[in-house]
Amino acid sequence: MIQIKSQREISLMRRAGEIAAAARRLAGNMVAPGVTTREIDKAVFDFIRAHGAKPSFLKYNGYPASICISVNNEVIHGIPGKRVLREGDIVSLDVGAALDGYHGDCAATIPCGKVSGEAMHLIEVTRQSFYEGIKFARPGNRISDISHAVQTYAEQNGCSVVRDYVGHGVGSKLHEAPEVPNFGPPGRGARLFPGMTFAVEPMLNAGDYKIRRLSDGWTVVTLDGSLSAHFENTILITSGKPEILTVCPEDTE
Ligand code: MF3
Ligand code: CO
Repeated sequence: MIQIKSQREISLMRRAGEIAAAARRLAGNMVAPGVTTREIDKAVFDFIRAHGAKPSFLKYNGYPASICISVNNEVIHGIPGKRVLREGDIVSLDVGAALDGYHGDCAATIPCGKVSGEAMHLIEVTRQSFYEGIKFARPGNRISDISHAVQTYAEQNGCSVVRDYVGHGVGSKLHEAPEVPNFGPPGRGARLFPGMTFAVEPMLNAGDYKIRRLSDGWTVVTLDGSLSAHFENTILITSGKPEILTVCPEDTE
């Protein structure tokens, strides 16, 4: 069952989304050679708490931090720590914030200093695949119309789509029904209606789509060691174009 959010729930998700987006932006602005991932986690925790919200990921299924920071061949769920960022790294930052029990969830991959052309291409294709996908996020379509558009764009531009992790409904729980895959044929899955809220989050690899999980129990890496990028926003289905809930008020990006 996919929930339809009330106006009250949508207002809370808009505010949670703004805080998550601003924290994600703050984390992105900290990405620079010499910075540790732990410093970024600390700043994100402090920012979210200072805005009266809670970090959605902290203690979720035992996750130990407020942000996931996944570098280079790491796909998702990298745990912040003593790792020092270096020139040329690509750094995926995934942040969730909850306000009065409602979540916003967003991610982006940020270059650390000057990165290779291949890395920039992957980042840009990942970001655009999200926008290609959400062109289909409107009433009259089905979930997998989004999925198919993401995959088509990603593969046409030489990138592969991770299969083992998918987007999701989001609301009073960080992960709700339905799953929102980034691959597959169109015309499948639930029909979309105004008031549904989803985290649409393509994860794209420069090489093969296969992944494995490290022995820390969290960090997901590409099986072939190739680079990976992530782009995610929480969106609201409306009667027309979807509304992106994870935006900073002063966002011009
Ligand atoms: N944004 C991610 C997800 O949706 C990360 C959450 S996983 C956590 O699915 F365990 F770290 F919280
Ligand atoms: Co998510």
